[in-house]
Amino acid sequence: MDFTFRHRVLILGTGGTIAGVAESSAQHTGYRAAALSVEQLVAAVPALAGFDLETRQVAQVDSKNMSYAIWTDLHAAVVAALGDGQLDGIVITHGTDTLEETAYFLARILVTAKPVVLTAAMRPATAVSADGPQNLLDAVQLATNASAAGVRVCMHGQVFAGYAVRKRHPYAVDAFTSSRERSATMEEGFYTTPAALPEPIPFEPDLPWPWVEAVSNAAGQDGRTVDALVAAGVQGLVVAATGNGTLSDALLEAVRRAQKAGVEIVVVSRCAEGHIVGQPEHGLPVLGVTAAQARVELLLLIRWKQAMQRARAAAKQRG
Ligand code: SIN
Repeated sequence: MDFTFRHRVLILGTGGTIAGVAESSAQHTGYRAAALSVEQLVAAVPALAGFDLETRQVAQVDSKNMSYAIWTDLHAAVVAALGDGQLDGIVITHGTDTLEETAYFLARILVTAKPVVLTAAMRPATAVSADGPQNLLDAVQLATNASAAGVRVCMHGQVFAGYAVRKRHPYAVDAFTSSRERSATMEEGFYTTPAALPEPIPFEPDLPWPWVEAVSNAAGQDGRTVDALVAAGVQGLVVAATGNGTLSDALLEAVRRAQKAGVEIVVVSRCAEGHIVGQPEHGLPVLGVTAAQARVELLLLIRWKQAMQRARAAAKQRG
């Protein structure tokens, strides 16, 4: 007997490009939407074997033809499933064209303490780089996360509130955005909501402002700027790293020398959007803000450390 715990998720299929097939793997338009069954979509994602999945084909349409009758059936299927105490959450596969309407419809009528996650794809299942399998995996993982309760849309690694999602592009893989809040993300199976503000840093106006600079990793970056700044007395360094937090070998060595010399370091990504996912191998502290904001963070952090030192010294003097 298998006693392994597996999250239980119901997947309701309604069709769309996620279930679409084209004649050629190079084709992203002119395909037939709603051709594959929800079981076939699940079978195409080996990582889903780790979940206890139930599937049901509620409809099989190109979502340009979404109807009130399908909405009514979908609502009934979701409500029935929400009554099943063993179920962690529900995923609905859908076409992208009217996804925002179905998501809004469900968001306005469902009262749910579980995640109800809609997902879709911009490329047919036959495409050389189909987006559907990853979207489906993300959606199932999200559906097992009780903190994502409510109606959500999970697309291209982003999680949107069902009432605020909108399709912004007719072709791009990252075709969805939100009309309201910043979206949350699904990255490597982890659901991350927009970062809550950390605790405020106490601010003492009469302390001196430290010297903090920013350097960037780049082609040919040899770390000389870091050494020069340390020799000149810099107290904090923001390192705008490439991609997901990487530094050239020479820059990393220079940063380590700086750290040893007592310079406060923080690493951010130099990419225009997103943040460093996970902890890079170099182990340096990372922040998910811009380099300019990270510089402010270091200014405040160093000032706070100075204030603590001053308080400790005063306490010592008092005996
Ligand atoms: C549809 O909305 O069903 C077709 C288009 C798509 O899913 O991207």
